Amino acid sequence: MSDIVVAVDGPAGSGKSSVSREAARRLGFAYLDTGAAYRALAWHCLDEGVDVEDATEVAERVAAFDYAIGMQPDHYFVRVGGEDITPDIREPRVTAVVSAVARVPEVRAGLTALFRRLIAEASEPGVIVEGRDITTVVAPDAAVRVLLTASPEARMARRSAELSAVSAEATAQQLASRDAQDSRVVDFMNAADGVTTLDSTDLDFEHTVQALIDIVRAGA
Ligand code: C5P
Repeated sequence: MSDIVVAVDGPAGSGKSSVSREAARRLGFAYLDTGAAYRALAWHCLDEGVDVEDATEVAERVAAFDYAIGMQPDHYFVRVGGEDITPDIREPRVTAVVSAVARVPEVRAGLTALFRRLIAEASEPGVIVEGRDITTVVAPDAAVRVLLTASPEARMARRSAELSAVSAEATAQQLASRDAQDSRVVDFMNAADGVTTLDSTDLDFEHTVQALIDIVRAGA
């Protein structure tokens, strides 16, 4: 079992995946991207022709969901049924339906159990786990718990910088709508008791990674 569990939550576009992964790499920790599992299940549902709005059909897919993730920051992959779908889970068609899949209670229960198993099996000396409900549901007893936030403007600007002007506006709308849908299921906008808020609005990537590492070293 990993000695130190670091739980990181935050909204879409807060940079929590890239920041958590880089911090894990520098600390020699394992890294668990929980959003990747929700995305992989959404991809699997689309692949199998499951109606993602049909909670019963989606719930039926969870029990037999054959999922594997690479938890070393330098060897990251996502597989379903042995097929490598690492780039596919970021496709807009998957992003568009992932919130519908993630709000099904059986999905949340099944994936939470999976995450707890993966955390228990993670390599030493520690693991950074990032998502929406890690500090509150998946690992509320984690040694270090962080809410990584940024103003909506900063989050939109970061996403837009990666895209053309035409798609930037549509993406900003999707980001806001995904956060609104996800917020109905879990609160990742407000820090729970004992959770440290790291606001990256005025920090660049390097300073945010360093700030997270400082929090881990102070709290572990
Ligand atoms: O982090 P990422 O944006 O890849 O997450 C994709 C989706 O997975 C989120 O929009 C949310 O619906 C779901 N998710 C979740 N709980 C988590 C992580 C992700 O519901 N812990």
